[in-house]
Amino acid sequence: MFVDPIRDQFAVLESEIAAGPIFPEVTAEEIRAWLQSRYDFQQPMPLEDVVADVEAMLKKWQVQVTHPRYFGLFNPGVTLASVLADTLVAMYNPQLANWRTSPAGNEIERHTLAWLAARFGLPESSIATFTSGGMEANLSAVVVALTHAYPGYGESGLRSLPGEPAIYLTEEAHFGFNKIAHMTGLGRRNLRLIGTDRQLKMNVEELRSAVAQDRAAGLLPFMVVGNAGTTAAGAIDPLPELGRFCRESGLWFHIDAAWGGAAVVSPTLRHHLAGTELADSITCDAHKWLSVPMGCGMFFCRHRHSVAQAFRAEVSYMPPKPAAHGDAAATFDPFTTSAQWSRRFIGLKLFMALAQQGESGYVAMIDHQARMGQVLRERLIAGGWRIVNATPLPLVCFTREGLTPAVLLAALRERQIAWMSEAKLHGVPVVRACITNFRTTEAEIEWVVSQMNSLVPAESRVQDRTGAATTGELQTALGTRTGP
Ligand SMILES: Cc1ncc(COP(=O)(O)O)c(C=O)c1O
Repeated sequence: MFVDPIRDQFAVLESEIAAGPIFPEVTAEEIRAWLQSRYDFQQPMPLEDVVADVEAMLKKWQVQVTHPRYFGLFNPGVTLASVLADTLVAMYNPQLANWRTSPAGNEIERHTLAWLAARFGLPESSIATFTSGGMEANLSAVVVALTHAYPGYGESGLRSLPGEPAIYLTEEAHFGFNKIAHMTGLGRRNLRLIGTDRQLKMNVEELRSAVAQDRAAGLLPFMVVGNAGTTAAGAIDPLPELGRFCRESGLWFHIDAAWGGAAVVSPTLRHHLAGTELADSITCDAHKWLSVPMGCGMFFCRHRHSVAQAFRAEVSYMPPKPAAHGDAAATFDPFTTSAQWSRRFIGLKLFMALAQQGESGYVAMIDHQARMGQVLRERLIAGGWRIVNATPLPLVCFTREGLTPAVLLAALRERQIAWMSEAKLHGVPVVRACITNFRTTEAEIEWVVSQMNSLVPAESRVQDRTGAATTGELQTALGTRTGP
């Protein structure tokens, strides 16, 4: 009913954002003074005024992550269908905590998750839920893996175990695992960091010997986290080898595919994610590369029973279980199979975007972004920049002789050229640019690189083109490539 006005509004906003600044110029004091001056909440205000004012604040006082030159931290441009979905959800306010209260919502989510679970190669008997984001999904993985490995953990806690359980991952894994180790009581020191190769992929031999040594020393290895697209560099760990090692060694294999997981949808990219079919659990965020608004994470798990054990809850005040309606085998109540209790209809935005565009539409969006990543690499190399990461995904880390990334980033910001960030690879600061928007064009990338080329001193350009100068440290560490 309200599709057309929102479509029009969305189109206007999209072009305004694309034509406007990416970076805000504002201080906290300025915003606080504005809020103090207008919002003491003592008198009602016309809704139109509130909406207009809030929109003005959002337009000028935030980084525009849906700008096509935002090459950032996995915050995507969003589809109209997903925006409409969030509007519908807010209007109907369905409660998905239990199946009986929202049969439609629960079945729509289940149907959507089954689509992606099949792409990951997980069995039909797997269970999946939408989460607030990747952090909740990774937390769920650790809680379920602990429950699976140690049946006493739920009732008696970690202190009942004969040693300290340990998780194995690389330094490139998302830092959120530190918070998870803290929150679950595992302790941050029981995250065991395994070294990486030149392409920042986990070294499986080192993993093998670390697990053996830790077991001999009395630690309790129980989980390995493999990355399918690291945050800093887009590295994909050797998932098939990790999966086989975990099976042989009785370890839970979790794959953090928060961003990179979307690549399984693309026939040209999915082979890079081979090994997801071996996972015990997978994190994937639709609010990253599946281009829907935050928050829309997903947690997939092969072990339905362990999920039900980890999140079990029996209370008299919740509506009766589906069993009372004869649907027991086919349904579950999400408040008993996930960390959340009250549950927003998170999955509708992915369902509607997928339904509107079809899988082929998604393949086109994902492949376009992968291609734009390649365009960015090629233009950078042609401009004398050096690519220092290796990934088939559209995340490009680069530098050049004598470059201080922070100085370049400040210039990009000041001139409103593009949003990029700094990442440290093997301890060396480099510039990180990720194509996160399906609307980003080749022309925009060319313009950004030409602007960057004009920012670096002429002698650096000459040196880099001839290859006479090198950043020795980086080249040794990362196996720098100078061609596509
Ligand atoms: C690889 C990876 N895992 C997990 C997360 C956490 O996801 P979220 O921010 O959705 O909680 C991120 C965030 O960027 C990530 O890059």
